[in-house]
Amino acid sequence: MKLIFEKGVPGRRGAKLPKCDVPSNFEIPRNFHREHEADLPEVSELEVVRHFTELSRRNFGIDTNFYPLGSCTMKYNPKIDEEVSRYKGFVELHPLLPQLRHGGMLTQGALQVIYNTERLLSEITGMSEFTMQPLAGAHGELTGTMIIAAYHKDKGNKKTKIIVPDSSHGTNPASAAICGYSIVSVPSNSDGMIDYDEFLKVLDNEVAAVMLTCPNTLGLFEPQIKKIAQKLHEVDGLMYCDGANMNAILGKIRPGDIGFDLMHINLHKTFATPHGGGGPGAGPVGVVEKLKKFLPISLVIKRNDGTYALDYDRPSSIGFIAPFYGNFGVILKAYCYILMLGKEGLIAVSENAVLNANYIKEKLKKYYHLAYDKTCMHECVFSAVNQLKNGVHTVDIAKRLIDYGFHPPTIYFPLIVKEAIMIEPTETETKETLDAFIETMIKISNEAQTQPEIVKDSPKTTPVSRLDEVSAARDMDLCFKD
Ligand SMILES: Cc1ncc(COP(=O)(O)O)c(C=O)c1O
Repeated sequence: MKLIFEKGVPGRRGAKLPKCDVPSNFEIPRNFHREHEADLPEVSELEVVRHFTELSRRNFGIDTNFYPLGSCTMKYNPKIDEEVSRYKGFVELHPLLPQLRHGGMLTQGALQVIYNTERLLSEITGMSEFTMQPLAGAHGELTGTMIIAAYHKDKGNKKTKIIVPDSSHGTNPASAAICGYSIVSVPSNSDGMIDYDEFLKVLDNEVAAVMLTCPNTLGLFEPQIKKIAQKLHEVDGLMYCDGANMNAILGKIRPGDIGFDLMHINLHKTFATPHGGGGPGAGPVGVVEKLKKFLPISLVIKRNDGTYALDYDRPSSIGFIAPFYGNFGVILKAYCYILMLGKEGLIAVSENAVLNANYIKEKLKKYYHLAYDKTCMHECVFSAVNQLKNGVHTVDIAKRLIDYGFHPPTIYFPLIVKEAIMIEPTETETKETLDAFIETMIKISNEAQTQPEIVKDSPKTTPVSRLDEVSAARDMDLCFKD
């Protein structure tokens, strides 16, 4: 496809400008003059419309095709959530308004949305209180780790380490390290769970916290959480739950009931707002009663007269972690999503997400090696070691899927699975879509055996085939010419 700069001919116009009404004797200072003519595309209106319509058709999106994207969900979210988040009354609020004298009275609706969403998340997770401020999952982890540090400082505990399983998302050890903790990695056992005996070996008085992803990044539920929490609490450590995968357990289990002391949720994964592709996020952090006083400034409170206000008077707080009130638009979408689905709907979300992942797992395990052959939660992790015998790597399979109209899944994650392919179909996909995907994955596995070169040369249907990804990322050059 040609660039718009390459289309059109000199002198062609798409718009007619009104006559210039700036006095002709007006002198623009020389330093504001252009050195050469602006290089603008000279195209007609129709060419502009056709160009951008064609571009939009080449865009791959959840509205057009299936994303089996494990870990970083790119699921379909109801359009009404997008619509509500664009209501004029919310979009046009000035963020400083509630801080102006009497301004809070003009933002009662927005403050109520934040307050109510916190209450709903507390009910869903079993945590006592939430802050809605963190702007992403990783930001939630950082906030959580700062709360952990504040708790230990307040108690005079000398803590230096945080335990993280080796299956964790990379943001977990990164967040803990940014807070100054050293990371103790605990290996997973042959079932894909944190190895309890290894955990006991590294547990001592210096452990500030254990960070567990629930369910874990292999798509498995850790059955030893209560046991781990009990041992950890004996040394006054805190149990942190990475709740980014909460969409697998909604209405089934509450982290607060099984020993977790604090957690973050990825609103953008679990409660509307597609994430993959870098959309806005929100990583609210929930805590049990004893950690409430450390939550960041400010908190929305409900006064006795039923009005809402912002509380800045929090002497033990970890302080400010984000401007204003978090990603308000994302919170609004989550609020709408939760209200729309209700308790039964949220339970159905989890059940369907888990059912869909297990359906794919069972259908594909004859063709792709299953790293941990167990009932999975919302995602299943295959390995392309069978296909590797013919020289076909996971990345080749992912690229070949593009030729067949599917977005590639998450690959090479979690790191503990060789040639990993993580598939998360999510709850909204129909059996027909899942079947079409399964059929394609089987076809690619057969191709890997009979004509591996086709798979290794893919994709062939896209404007560009294989980019040198390292150069593309490190030496980004988006100019169409020098
Ligand atoms: C298990 C897990 N933890 C943490 C994160 C980090 O979340 P974010 O990308 O919003 O920072 C993710 C990403 O989706 C995740 O899958």
